[in-house]
Amino acid sequence: MNPFLGLLTLAVFDPQSALEPGGPGAQAIKSLGVFFFVLLGLIFLAVVTIGMAAVLRTRPGEATPAKAPPNPPRHVEDWLARLTGGAIAVTIALLFLLVVLSVLTGKETAAPPRGKSLVVEITGHQWWWDIQYTYDDVSLNVSTPNELHIPVGQTVLIRGTSRDVIHSFWVPNLQGKRDLIPSHITTSWVQASRPGRFRGQCGEFCGTQHAHMAFWVVAEPPESFEAWIVHQRGPAPDPSDSVRSRGREVFLRSACILCHTIRGTDAAGRIGPDLTHVSSRLTIAAGTLAMTRDNLANWIADPQKAKPGNHMAVVPIPGEDFQPLIEYMVSLQ
Ligand code: CUA
Repeated sequence: MNPFLGLLTLAVFDPQSALEPGGPGAQAIKSLGVFFFVLLGLIFLAVVTIGMAAVLRTRPGEATPAKAPPNPPRHVEDWLARLTGGAIAVTIALLFLLVVLSVLTGKETAAPPRGKSLVVEITGHQWWWDIQYTYDDVSLNVSTPNELHIPVGQTVLIRGTSRDVIHSFWVPNLQGKRDLIPSHITTSWVQASRPGRFRGQCGEFCGTQHAHMAFWVVAEPPESFEAWIVHQRGPAPDPSDSVRSRGREVFLRSACILCHTIRGTDAAGRIGPDLTHVSSRLTIAAGTLAMTRDNLANWIADPQKAKPGNHMAVVPIPGEDFQPLIEYMVSLQ
């Protein structure tokens, strides 16, 4: 694509909007919403028009007649009764139609389209998302916290649960919400019909940092997706110079390893996000900060500043160790 056009679509395209579907799930929901809006809008206009006509028809002086007007002739009364009955029947039929369409759309968005699917297990945590790609061959499984990549045109089955409180998995451009409930597995699916980046957001209040519990869905052509997941499965790259080597030592000597995993090293904590390829991600702190060297440094120096109340501890790192640590983290592509 022409780079200018690319920029233009980025500017116009809203990455978090149910009104800009990027796949069949969100498309079905949008179609239903538009149908409701148009039909109910037309009914509203009709009611207001008839009401206004009745008000305007009353001429000055007629508003409060001295005595009640005579009853209309029998045939007019019968006609009015039939008209009222007909209006009630149409109302009931329309309500019934809306119920049927809602149920059909509900079924369509609940059941995944047939065909081979990728399976991803998503676990909500206060306040981040663990995203585990799972395969029959478990050696292929890989965790990519806060970032879900999906191949365009393929169905991705989501098996969701929560580690603590109820969260809600929601990518408005792709699908409706699905609750993640502790000790319970809920299923859902997403499918993208075009490449793009879509922002997901926890859809259920889950504590102080609920608003900072976001993630990104990257929909890409199947070949790019395959290349990405193969890379994610690999261990962390070895430090390429002495500064990064020192940074790795700092990490492995610190309390960081109690919570975080860096595959290929001794760090195997399971409480916080897997950091093996942290620097390849779009954001840190679950969509809160763009993944940049400065943001990463500020985040590690004081995680409570950008996201007060989050469960990442402040780990004191001596001044001379701090830069090497950051260099090492940034090298975890
Ligand atoms: Cu998790 Cu709101």
